[in-house]
Amino acid sequence: MNWGAMDRYAKSLIKEAGHHIKRSFFTEIEISSKSSANDLVTNIDREIEQFFITRIRRDFPDHRIMGEEGFGDDIQSLDGVIWFLDPIDGTMNFVHQKRNFAISLGIYIDGIGMLGYVYDVTADDLYSAMKDEGAFLNDIRLPQLTDTTIEEAIIGVNASWIAPNRYVDNEPMIELVKTCRGTRSYGSAALELTHVATGRVDVYMSMRLSPWDVAGGMIIAREVGAISSTLQGEQSGLLQQETFIVSNASIHSQLLKDFIILKK
Ligand code: IPD
Ligand code: CA
Ligand code: CA
Repeated sequence: MNWGAMDRYAKSLIKEAGHHIKRSFFTEIEISSKSSANDLVTNIDREIEQFFITRIRRDFPDHRIMGEEGFGDDIQSLDGVIWFLDPIDGTMNFVHQKRNFAISLGIYIDGIGMLGYVYDVTADDLYSAMKDEGAFLNDIRLPQLTDTTIEEAIIGVNASWIAPNRYVDNEPMIELVKTCRGTRSYGSAALELTHVATGRVDVYMSMRLSPWDVAGGMIIAREVGAISSTLQGEQSGLLQQETFIVSNASIHSQLLKDFIILKK
């Protein structure tokens, strides 16, 4: 496999898809909901996924695609080359704000992440990474992360972690919020992974994410030395929804040991 050529191909697809999305700002968007009233999807999410899938199937017929909107393949194993695509990550932001959303794409071979992309469409910022070759923002190399402490860290959590919930004990989370320097929540898992990769925040965690939310950003974060895992500390399996944490390596184990106490 020529990964350099694949990288150029993927970047040009992403930029083309980004143009489609920007054009949609001037059209009427059809909005509907999926699993719940606040789980939004639009015709643009579907069109962008179909755009990618048509191209990938034409140019790489033996590759498989896992896409959020269901136009891809039914993926039950990580064998071969798989493209994990979220056509719009942060659809609520897309609908309400027309910013703070991204195209997320990860290309894996036999479960190993080779190429990762998160494209902040409105900002025209393309985060990318190739395995063992580093991570980049608009083709400028991102530096390795430097160590931090919980006291100096900005923690990417949303308010649901602090209220009583069925996943984690909220008391240690309140302690974490009191101990750390500050908290942030942006509403796009893919963008939040890039915030960790650039050191803008030091950790991002979620109680439930799908493979397409994290597959691209995980590769980018790994290349600058961040660690990602489930909240149990295991590697994400990329075949189903799981808990998720990505952080500066220096605080990952302390977060899991002292603050994120799982209920089950
Ligand atoms: C969602 C966003 C959000 C996260 C949700 C995801 P979507 O993706 O990443 O930040 O909290 O769990 O489902 O639905 O906008 O593609
Ligand atoms: Ca998503
Ligand atoms: Ca999505």
